[in-house]
Amino acid sequence: MKIEALPVVQEEYQLKDYDATARDFQWEEAEKTFTWYETGKVNMAYEAIDRHAKSDKKDKVALYYQDADRKESYTFGDMKTWTDKAANVYKEHSNLAKGDRLFIFMPRSPELYFALLGAVKMGTIVGPLFEAFMEGAVYDRLLDSEAKAIVTTPDLLGRIPLDRLPDLETVFLVGDNIKEDDKFIDFNKALKNASDAFEIEWVDKEDGLILHYTSGSTGKPKGILHVHYAMVQQYQSMKWVMDIRDDDIYWCTADPGWVTGTSYGIFGPWLAGTTSLILGGRFSPDAWYKAIEEYKITVWYSAPTAFRMLMGAGDGIVKKYDLTSLRHVLSVGEPLNPEVIKWGMQVFNKRIHDTWWMTETGAQMICNYGCLPIKPGSMGKPLPGVKAAIIDNNGVEVPPFTMGNLAIKKGWPSMMRQVWKNQEKFESYFINDEWYFSGDSAYMDDDGYFWFQGRVDDVIMTSGERVGPFEVESKLLEHPAILEAGVIGKPDPVRGEIIKAFVALNEGYEPSDELIEEIQQFVKKGLAAHAAPREIEFKDKLPKTRSGKIMRRVLKAWELQLPTGDLSTMED
Ligand code: WTA
Repeated sequence: MKIEALPVVQEEYQLKDYDATARDFQWEEAEKTFTWYETGKVNMAYEAIDRHAKSDKKDKVALYYQDADRKESYTFGDMKTWTDKAANVYKEHSNLAKGDRLFIFMPRSPELYFALLGAVKMGTIVGPLFEAFMEGAVYDRLLDSEAKAIVTTPDLLGRIPLDRLPDLETVFLVGDNIKEDDKFIDFNKALKNASDAFEIEWVDKEDGLILHYTSGSTGKPKGILHVHYAMVQQYQSMKWVMDIRDDDIYWCTADPGWVTGTSYGIFGPWLAGTTSLILGGRFSPDAWYKAIEEYKITVWYSAPTAFRMLMGAGDGIVKKYDLTSLRHVLSVGEPLNPEVIKWGMQVFNKRIHDTWWMTETGAQMICNYGCLPIKPGSMGKPLPGVKAAIIDNNGVEVPPFTMGNLAIKKGWPSMMRQVWKNQEKFESYFINDEWYFSGDSAYMDDDGYFWFQGRVDDVIMTSGERVGPFEVESKLLEHPAILEAGVIGKPDPVRGEIIKAFVALNEGYEPSDELIEEIQQFVKKGLAAHAAPREIEFKDKLPKTRSGKIMRRVLKAWELQLPTGDLSTMED
């Protein structure tokens, strides 16, 4: 199959010659950007905020924040003040020490960013939680990480089972009329009263920075730990992949509850000294296009699901807005469909650049660079300094056009350093101590472009969010009507995949639309709205192995009307 590559638009990208750079690049080049390269004193928040606040970028806007109620801007100087204050709030009102875990569980607001970077200044490990998580999801994460403190809002407090979390000592509440005692602190009041002079905690490059919980195909979500040194790759990819420049206005649409919203919604842009927009509230085509027009966004990082929803909203609405400020548009999270790229060319007159990476990789890995022709449907080529390959199950590289495991040579700067308290799980990602297994299958063509084919495991990507079937199945089994549950991703033109559950009922329960609705609400309330199955199908019995494991592969084959393959391990 011959694919027409979209040619490079005549423009000077910062990564000029991919091949030459990829051949010669040493990470030490990127390290030289940071003060610690000279001083030996490391802290991500220093490099992202304080360094700029002490330079001629002091009065440059770091953060534009907007939602339905607020419209504010903060310079790098302001960000230093507010993050120093936040750090002092923790110091005065809690026993948090370097290495302790502090969680942040709240909707986007400027305070979320002060709270997060303030904690980094203390040397604590931050765990961001998506605001849509319900009690079960919150509990698992706080318990596993032995979180000592949390910043949240009165609205979300009811989802934190405080009596079952013995390590959680302090709750910082962001809101009005907060009643305080030893455990509950009014964060805004404390912030206002706190000193803005804080001695930053210097850490080791390899000390913990952020803990993102993410789903696999088995077991509870696992805590992926990244360290301060990840900054090297986050910064360098801002230059080469995002092509960020001093006068850019950058917008990453991801929530900091996900890795994209931290690596490229907080660390990356501010390490590069970029003016960044954070838009609160929910997705709406009008609000999004209006934001691009109003803030004159030049570099825009979003996701295929969002692009498909904008596409679905029609081109009429695009014409209402002036989007000519856009210079560089990028995508992450799911396969970027060639139709979406075509649509992007029509409505923005821009190529949309796909980027592939994962929570575990901490930063972009395989990308369509500005200086490369884009082959629609391909993720592009590895970051200079990163070696990617397609390997078989024994860790042996396979020839071009052969499908296999997408793998990365161990040791890139932003690689996860730990799966929280689970060394075995961490080791299971690697083969021969050499390759990191991504869990994605792909092939490489003879120009060195990578083509995503699917997940090797059962992980579901719905609207760009990664959902583990096990977590949903476990929740389903808590429902009194459900005897057995098997969960799969079903292909969907807008969301990539939707969650479909097959369930067998206990004696005394009958299938009905009301029961479907009730089960959906049960998962929504217990886990998160995005984890609730959009489709539920009742079965008398589910396909299981003789050891009793639900065979999701068979469910998937049923759903897609494909051959079920080898059934030798199935019980009769
Ligand atoms: C998928 C998101 C195709 C992939 C940053 C990966 C992609 C998982 C792409 C990680 C892409 C991410 N094309 N698939 N450009 N980017 N994925 O941890 O299956 O939430 O393994 O990280 O998303 O999801 P995660």
